[in-house]
Amino acid sequence: MLPEVTAIRYVTPLREGGSVPGIVEADDLGTYVAKFIGAAQGRKALVAEVVCGELARRLELRVPELVRLNFDPVIALGEPDTEVQDLLKASGGLNLGMDFLPGSVGFDPIAFEVDASQAARVIWFDALVNNVDRSWRNPNMLIWHRELWLIDHGAALIWHHNWKGAQASAAKPYDATDHALARFVTAAELAAAAAELAPRITETLLREVTALIPQEWLLDEPGFGTADAVRRAYADVLGDRAATIHDRIRLSAPPKKAEAPPEWLRTWVEGKAAGSRQEDGR
Ligand SMILES: Nc1ncnc2c1ncn2[C@@H]1O[C@H](COP(=O)(O)OP(=O)(O)O)[C@@H](O)[C@H]1O
Ligand SMILES: [Mg+2]
Repeated sequence: MLPEVTAIRYVTPLREGGSVPGIVEADDLGTYVAKFIGAAQGRKALVAEVVCGELARRLELRVPELVRLNFDPVIALGEPDTEVQDLLKASGGLNLGMDFLPGSVGFDPIAFEVDASQAARVIWFDALVNNVDRSWRNPNMLIWHRELWLIDHGAALIWHHNWKGAQASAAKPYDATDHALARFVTAAELAAAAAELAPRITETLLREVTALIPQEWLLDEPGFGTADAVRRAYADVLGDRAATIHDRIRLSAPPKKAEAPPEWLRTWVEGKAAGSRQEDGR
């Protein structure tokens, strides 16, 4: 089970992304980014954070520590923004906490160099979990102590919003052309990352990771009898995808066909060239 803490002070909302997480202090004296169960993205976003975050950690990618976070909205009554207040009121009970990295800065692909092997490992991982939320516009990575840290996997595993089509959806390609790390990677490095990482996605590993999803977030899932059945469904899709996703990662847009210049431009350019030859001859 993930470690469990209780929030004792609500510090401030974080407004950069879409889900308005909050910074909270907890009874273990830690500071956490709280991802709230009452956010529009719902409890599945929190499930995706747990599955992807813990999977990435086991592949030795850096992800801040995740905890089960008990939150009582009464500690946040001082929050003046009424929309945030509504979100907090809808989030009593078990939420997700992510260790807050103090002094970290948002990753910027222009300002930071990432070595090709690390970039390839992150892209392969994002392809595995269908993470469409790591583009250069919105990298969802932090630099902390000169290292790259992955955050925000709430939008990944898109297929868990429609289990009936999950296997078919998971068989689809992954478009990495917009990925924040695409400029650092080569096809050869990506193949090497796939060869290293895919065999590590074993049934045992997937069982271990899915066991960390809090039971509360899996109950009443339509089409499933038990929480463990939902856990198995996550493991099945990820296991299948790990074996073959490498062949379906698109790294660069197909080259555009060079169009022939229009007739008027060609004759104009040729005419100019002939004119300048005449001038030279004078
Ligand atoms: N663990 C963390 N440590 C420091 N800052 C964080 C951490 N997690 C998130 N943030 C900051 O909060 C912002 C929003 O968090 P994020 O998880 O991306 O949520 P969302 O995009 O869903 O709103 C991030 O862009 C980042 O600036
Ligand atoms: Mg984000």
